[in-house]
Amino acid sequence: ARPVLIDPFGRRIDYLRVSVTDRCDLRCVYCMAERQAFLPRRDLLTLEELDRLCTGFIDLGTRRLRLTGGEPLVRKGFMDLVRGLSRHLESGRLEELTLTTNGTRLAEHADDLAACGVRRINVSLDTLDADLYRRITRGGELAKVMVGLDAARAAGLEVKINTVALKGDNAGALPDMVAWAHGRGMGLTLIETMPLGEIEADRMDQYLPLSEVRADFEARWTLTPLARRTSGPARYVRVEETGGTLGFITPMSHSFCEACNRVRVTCTGDLVLCLGREDGVALTPVLRNHPDDDEPLREAIRAAILAKPKGHDFRIDRPGAAPAVARPMSMTGG
Ligand code: GTP
Ligand code: 5AD
Ligand code: SF4
Repeated sequence: ARPVLIDPFGRRIDYLRVSVTDRCDLRCVYCMAERQAFLPRRDLLTLEELDRLCTGFIDLGTRRLRLTGGEPLVRKGFMDLVRGLSRHLESGRLEELTLTTNGTRLAEHADDLAACGVRRINVSLDTLDADLYRRITRGGELAKVMVGLDAARAAGLEVKINTVALKGDNAGALPDMVAWAHGRGMGLTLIETMPLGEIEADRMDQYLPLSEVRADFEARWTLTPLARRTSGPARYVRVEETGGTLGFITPMSHSFCEACNRVRVTCTGDLVLCLGREDGVALTPVLRNHPDDDEPLREAIRAAILAKPKGHDFRIDRPGAAPAVARPMSMTGG
């Protein structure tokens, strides 16, 4: 039998998300400050360290691994990391190797990803309007993502679109996004903004509770709840009229932490036990002090899981409030 990590609340932690870089070719207004300073390269885990780290988690029972960023596809050598990690798919110890990407570089990489055993990817896209896209991402070109999505589907990758619901920006266009994604055989998941990292805007002005969006959808469509597909925080429904899957990630309006199955590692090697908590356990020193022995790493991970908190304490209820967590999403990887 495979080992499994169990936290103090009896949750099986078999899903790991790793941020491979804090860099990104976009600057989404809810994610980063316009002049976000990126970390110096030496602060990042090397590709070898990333492989050792992921392998250590797989030794302890991680069954699904998601690589994130920043934008994972801007990290040099990223495809080598994926190719290396795909050995764990071949051995059957890992069930799923996947990534969350903004899609701008998918056209170049989709075939390679599929060849490495990646079966599905999540692509972040908040609007179908090229002007609004340019404004939200501060300069991004929507056409690149569209070409990337075509390439992904041509390569046989299953695609899920992630859309952050933004009060002033895409609120009115969310039904169109659902119809568009479902019309192309892609699922779509809506996400509430979370107070992570300093940005220029006030989160209060961006935050749109998905309870409101869901009520609006229910007036339009028949939503049938689905059993938790991958058992995690997202709740999924089927839209009967389109036949597609719709997800809701509602950390703000509805607490979901009792179903948590995951932990994260930041691009600097901190094990973050909950997205909504400030503290992390530094794994980099363990990796660097024991270059030839992975048992200390596994021991550090086991010990850390025993301190996984019950849940986050995000709030967006006061104008001008400081972020609940100073670390931006780009370091933590969603
Ligand atoms: P799959 O179920 O594997 O498709 O993954 P997912 O939907 O969790 O992954 P994805 O990267 O698409 O996640 C979308 C976003 O949901 C993340 O970037 C986070 O913003 C949010 N999210 C995912 N997991 C959590 C969580 O445990 N807590 C909170 N607060 N937000 C989460
Ligand atoms: N709150 C919610 N979602 C965020 N993302 C980035 N920053 C935030 C935030 N503060 C989303 C991205 C992407 C995913 C990885 O996280 O749009 O879909
Ligand atoms: Fe880049 Fe994703 Fe952050 Fe946008 S949300 S700036 S695409 S990391």
